[in-house]
Parts: sequence; C-alpha cells; structure tokens
Amino acid sequence: MSANYMVKVKNYLSSMPSLPTTVTKVLEICNNPRTSPIDLDKVISLDPVLMGKVLKLINSAYYSMQNQVTSLVRAIIMLGVNTVKNLALSTAILDKMVDKNGFRALNMEGFWRHSLCVGVVSKLIARKRMVDSTRLDEYFAAGLLHDIGKIPLNNILSEEYLQAMGLADRERIPLYMAEKRVLNLDHAETGAMIAEVWKLDKPLSDAISLHHACDSYNGSNKELVFTVAVADYYANRERIGFSGSVHPDKVPPEMFDFLGIEKAWLEEIDDLVNKEIEKASIFLKLKTGA
Ligand SMILES: [Fe+2]
Ligand SMILES: [Fe+2]
Repeated sequence: MSANYMVKVKNYLSSMPSLPTTVTKVLEICNNPRTSPIDLDKVISLDPVLMGKVLKLINSAYYSMQNQVTSLVRAIIMLGVNTVKNLALSTAILDKMVDKNGFRALNMEGFWRHSLCVGVVSKLIARKRMVDSTRLDEYFAAGLLHDIGKIPLNNILSEEYLQAMGLADRERIPLYMAEKRVLNLDHAETGAMIAEVWKLDKPLSDAISLHHACDSYNGSNKELVFTVAVADYYANRERIGFSGSVHPDKVPPEMFDFLGIEKAWLEEIDDLVNKEIEKASIFLKLKTGA
C-alpha cells in the first residue's frame, strides 16, 4: 500500500512544471563566485515577469528602501547578487506552489503564515548571530520553503493527510512521525524529492529535507538547518500560523548552545516577528497574473 503513495507522489512531482529557464540560469551563474551584478542583470532582464517581481520586492516594505529603485542593476548592487538570487528563486517556487487548489487537509492560509513566520524568524536569528548580510535572505528562503513537501502530500493524498493529522493529535506526536506511520513517507522526504526535481542547492535542500533530523545532522549547513529548526519550533510554540503539528519536537539545549542564542531571547521577539511577517507577506502576493 505505502509503495503506492510513493509512486503517486513521484508521478505528481515528475509532472510538475520545471522552474523557468531564467531562474535556472540565475542559479547557475550565481554559483560562480565571480558573478557580477551586470551578469545577473543580463539574465534577469531577459525575463520581464521575473524582473518585475524582483523590482516589486525591492520596493516593498520588506526592504524598506529610502527611495524607489527602478533600475535592476542598481537593485542588484544595493542588495547583492546572493540576495537577488534568493528572491528570484523563492518567487519562482512560490509561483508554482501557492494557490494550488489542493489544500484539502491543511488550511492554506495557516500553512503560509507558518512558513512566513519560519522564514522571518530564521532571518532574525541569523541577524542576531551576525551571519554575513549577503546570506540573510538565504535564511529567509530556507525558512519560507522548509515545509514545501507538505504541499504535494496535501494535494494528492488529502484523505491520508487528514488521518496523519488526526493521529499526531491523538498520540501527541510530531506530524512528520504521523505522516511516516500513515503514508510511510513524510514531508521532509517529499521535500527532498522536490529539491531534486528542481535541483535546489545544497543549503536549501538540506534545510527542506533535514529540519526534523537535526540530532543526526552532521553536514556542512548545520547553522542553517538548526536555525530553521529553531524557527519552526518558535512558530509552532507561539501558534503563529498552523503547520499541522500541535506536538512538535522540543529543541534540545545543545542546539541553542551551538547557535549561541538564548531561549529567553525567543520570548522577546513576538512583536517584531508579527511586523516582519506583514512585510514579508508580499512574497505570497507576487504570483504571476495575480
Ligand atoms: Fe517540517
Ligand atoms: Fe514547519
């Protein structure tokens, strides 16, 4: 039976439209450390829709720029190649994922608010830890997309997903464990398949596929993966949005120690988080044609 679920999900993912060529190209050239703003500008300018979205984001409250930025190359210089890459990637993925009419189990609004919260808090933690500013939006993107594997499961296996949510509730276990028991496939594994189909880079793909496996994670993106896990814990504990998990795993003290942040600090950021979520909600409003 469970093999069936896996096949269903695989078929669905292989029929999913690929990311636009421009976005793939953006990722490709940004992997080259010598890429300049001009190179990136050349690629993005070829795609007026993507260019429009990037400019819209840059001029939104999310970045609170002093003056309107109308030139893409200027925007790239101001924000940096890496930030623009993450903007382009997140919008492209959300474009494929937002509003898919398949949220029959999880509530869509709750899910996206949870995702925005994890994105925003990941970025706040990174800032607090004084992570290089060119990487802050990578933290946001990783948080925003960490539970993306839940979308195909909701779309194509909504009955079973409801069962998993019920099981998690009754047995007071994290949702990913209940998914595993009902479907023999959890959202992190599904996320890993999405990351493979779209050839997402290693940090993002690790955050998506390993945010519930921190205790055994020993890869090179520990800071990012742990940050997303802590942000996820925060979002669930504060009940900001709804991820379907009422009894998530606790974060072991060693994880806070590793990141060098105090658990108490997480209790002081509520107001800031809510404000940042409002600003970041622009990401969900950029869908093509919306
Ligand atoms: Fe998750
Ligand atoms: Fe989550």
